Order: sequence, then C-alpha cells, then structure tokens
Amino acid sequence: MPINKLGNILNCSVSDLRKKGTAKGKEFIIEKVIKPQGEKGPRYLLKGFEGKEFIKMNSNSYLGMSLREEIVEAEEKAVREFGVGPGAVRFISGSLKPHRDLEKKLSAFHGREEAMIFSAAYVTVMGTIAPLVTPDTVIISDELNHNCIINAVRLSRPKDKTIFKHLDVSDLEEKIKSYMGKAKRIIVVTDGIFSMRGDYAPLDKINEIVKKHDDKFEENIVLVVDDSHGVGAFGKTGRGTEEYTNCGKVDILIGTLGKAFGVNGGYVTSSANIITFLRETAPMYIYSNPITASEAAAVIRVLEMLEGKQGDSILDHLRSMTKKFEKGLLDLGFEIIVSDHPIVPVLVRNTEKTAELVKFLIENGVLATGLNYPVVPKGDETIRFQVNADHTAFDIDSVLEVLKKYKETN
Ligand SMILES: Cc1ncc(COP(=O)(O)O)c(C=O)c1O
Repeated sequence: MPINKLGNILNCSVSDLRKKGTAKGKEFIIEKVIKPQGEKGPRYLLKGFEGKEFIKMNSNSYLGMSLREEIVEAEEKAVREFGVGPGAVRFISGSLKPHRDLEKKLSAFHGREEAMIFSAAYVTVMGTIAPLVTPDTVIISDELNHNCIINAVRLSRPKDKTIFKHLDVSDLEEKIKSYMGKAKRIIVVTDGIFSMRGDYAPLDKINEIVKKHDDKFEENIVLVVDDSHGVGAFGKTGRGTEEYTNCGKVDILIGTLGKAFGVNGGYVTSSANIITFLRETAPMYIYSNPITASEAAAVIRVLEMLEGKQGDSILDHLRSMTKKFEKGLLDLGFEIIVSDHPIVPVLVRNTEKTAELVKFLIENGVLATGLNYPVVPKGDETIRFQVNADHTAFDIDSVLEVLKKYKETN
C-alpha cells in the first residue's frame, strides 16, 4: 500500500472528528419515495429500516417542488429535447436555450437587469466574491455566515477581512467607519436567512448603512447577500429576505435553485455590468459545467408557478403549516424560535438530549436534524425542523403526536 502512512493520518483525523462529536456520520439512504395519498403527504423508505415510513422534516425543498408532477414533466420534456448533460462549459458549447431562458426569468423574478447560473449556490458565492476582490478591497462579513462565504473570503485574499456581530447593524457601521481612508472598495456580505436558526439579516437597515457611507469609498461599498434559504420560501411572493424586509434592491443577490425551487444549481443576479464581468472572470462558471438543460427547464416551470395564483396558494399553505407546527410545539412546552420562515428550531440546550430526541424521532418515523456545538454555540443545541408545502395538516399533527409522546416519557 503506497499511501498507507497518509491513510493512517487521515483515519486519525476522522476519529478526532468523531470524538469531538462533529463528524457527520452515517448517511441515511432513501430507497423509495411514496407519493402523497389521501391526507398523507409524501413518505420515505430508508435503507436499514425495513418497511418503516418516514416523514421528512429536514428537507430544504420548502415549496415541495421536487416531487410535483408539473415540474417533473417539464424536466422530462427538456431531457428528451436537449439530452441528459450539457457536454461542455458555457463558453464552449454548453449554453443551451433553457439556461438563457432561466437567466432571463430569474433576473425578471428579482427585478434585476441580468442573472447567471452556476452548478450550485456554494460555487456561485465563491465565483462571485473572489473576482470582485482587489488588493485594495476589505470584506466585512456577518459572524454566522454560511461556510461558502467563509471559504470565498479565504479564496479571495482581500487586503483585510473582519466580521461584525450577528445581525448587529451598529457593529457593522463601526467596522465600515474603521476602514475609511484605508480601503478603496468594501464588500459587505451576509446570508439573507441564516440556516441554523431561520433568523434573517435586517437588510433594510444594512442597506441604509451601506448607502450612508458609500461615497466615502473610491470604489463603493458593495452589498452581497446569499439568500439561499430565503428565495422562494420567504416574503409574501417568495422573493426572499429583500421582499420581507422591504429593503429595496441589494447590489448583488445570490440564491440556490436547490432548496425552495426544488431542483439543483445556484445563481447570481445584479446589474448587467456586474454579470458581464463575472461571466468573464468567475472560474467556477468559466471552467465548470452548468446544470443540465432539463434542470433549468424545471426551474423555469417553478418560477412560472410561483408568479401565478398557484404560487400564492402554495406559499399560503407553507405559512399555515409552519404556524400550525410552531403553535403545536409551543403548546407542548418546547422552546422554539418563532419566525415566518419554515425553519423551526427547537432549542434543546443539551448535546446528549439532542441526540436522544433525534433517535426518538427516527424510531417514530420522523427525520429531523440535530445541531450541536460547534455548528451552533454551546448551550444552543437544537433540533432543526423544516416545514415543506407538501406537508399536510395530518403530517404536522403526526409529528406533534410523536413529540407529545416524547414529552410524556421524558
Ligand atoms: C446560505 C447558504 N448558501 C449556500 C448554500 C449551498 O447551496 P447549494 O446546495 O446550492 O450549493 C447553502 C446550503 O446549505 C446555504 O445555506
């Protein structure tokens, strides 16, 4: 074995992660999806759990689009027309009509001049931030930003980088002021919705502060928002945290096609000059294949639905299921973070109890995510539930029934 020494070192690293409790561990394999039937939403059969039906309370497919017949049909139709893969990167011969149609649709959806798609939101963030950073740029980032922003900052090697306290606009303003006369360009970057807690950046206030100090920097303050959990699922019409906070338009908005939109991929939308620049400079766009044409066609169908009455009723249902679940949890005496976003965190505040509750939920056919330190601060150990529009009232009651049983026996 030529690399057995390295193998031993890597095994030790994985053991360390396990000891620290930060290893992700065994992945559940979904072997079958059972379509909604009567009062029941979809159910899932998992490898190793013979015949047991699970309700998924940890899916990002907030609008339930990934299983919707209309969306599957749109994808199937496009796959017959364009094949299963793009065959090349965009500037070679991998730009197919559905890619461009989707970009136009996304920019219109968010009221922007242009948009471009990537293979995932993770690489969209990296491919957007890195080219915008010069040796005279400083990045100011919320302390709880997603891992893709942290790595984008590392990759871009700015003149300096700093974090502001989570959601704290006064701290952000102080940080901006501290770079006056010391940097030409500032990039302020934040998640829209923060995925661990379902809380949101006060984009109205952040945008106001950015505008207030913009003229003090030779090359502007650019506000970049990654609203991967917000787009599609948050705001009256699903336009995300921008819509919810009524902040106007941030400079650069990033979203995913793989959560509320139910498909796969990522995108950035902004002014035409920014997008033209990124098409020429973002390595993850230039040197990596796009999503498939059929995935693009599926998202186009999702956006058409969202723009119509059907979209309103799906979002109404999602909100009403979220409120029903939150109320049920509060009635049972659980501590939760209440918000209008379908992420519903139950604060357990203890690592062993979190693991115990996740185990109990699995034994009783409910999939949810336990979050422990260092993913969340010590003392904030949480079970993260995510409500989807394909959950029915019966599903929510069933999950609450399981949680009631847990309360009674613990
Ligand atoms: C804020 C944020 N950005 C980006 C991503 C990555 O999304 P994708 O799966 O499209 O790469 C996630 C996913 O968890 C996220 O929460």
